[in-house]
Amino acid sequence: MNELTRRLWEEQDRHSGDRLRLFTTIGVFTGDTSVLYPGSFVDVAASFVFDSVTYVDNDRRAVRFFSDTAGVDEIISSHRRNPYKAEWRFIPSDYRTELDLADRCVGLLVSLYAGFVSEQCTRYLRPGGWLLANPSHGDAAMASIDPRYRLAAVVSARAGRYTVTEGDLESYMIPKRPTEITVELLRETSRGIAYTRSPFAYLFQRENS
Ligand SMILES: C[S@@+](CC[C@H](N)C(=O)[O-])C[C@H]1O[C@@H](n2cnc3c(N)ncnc32)[C@H](O)[C@@H]1O
Repeated sequence: MNELTRRLWEEQDRHSGDRLRLFTTIGVFTGDTSVLYPGSFVDVAASFVFDSVTYVDNDRRAVRFFSDTAGVDEIISSHRRNPYKAEWRFIPSDYRTELDLADRCVGLLVSLYAGFVSEQCTRYLRPGGWLLANPSHGDAAMASIDPRYRLAAVVSARAGRYTVTEGDLESYMIPKRPTEITVELLRETSRGIAYTRSPFAYLFQRENS
């Protein structure tokens, strides 16, 4: 493994095992499915759990990281419980451009701290598939007003453990201050909406249309 690969992964995994715990919890909810992770940087923890993941990023360090395929395989295989080798692919692109992927080809779209992934990449998610979005850059709010999605569950974090809850969803995504949430408002601020409850992330399901 290249020295840069090792350093980037160590920095990514500085809260040791945190993303493994997150994706393990998500995988129990969704079951194994193909994953698209735009704005992944070097977060290969998705491949510790899911058998097929496509990562997309346009950061030069991410491009160098993923070009060390043996190093990335080593990180992944040393963390996987499943003995089958994970399939992964990296697309070194801006996710807002046309990606070399078929529409509706994945079952889980991941949007963590990387902008409006849902707005740009829902076309690749099949109906009935899942969007994992956190509120940080406004993408969870964007999905909440997107008619292609319905809120299906919330992901809470406590003491480094993640749980998925499907009940009491009406009590989530209520703005602290009455606000008309629009695409324009979200694009303008890129910060998201302050809600009365603040789980780590949300799971939306793409409607069957
Ligand atoms: C704050 S990091 C988050 C990385 C990872 N999702 C995580 O949660 O650890 C945001 C990443 O999104 C990438 N990103 C932001 N906008 C992008 C775009 N339009 N296309 C591709 N990558 C993008 C950045 O290059 C960066 O690597």
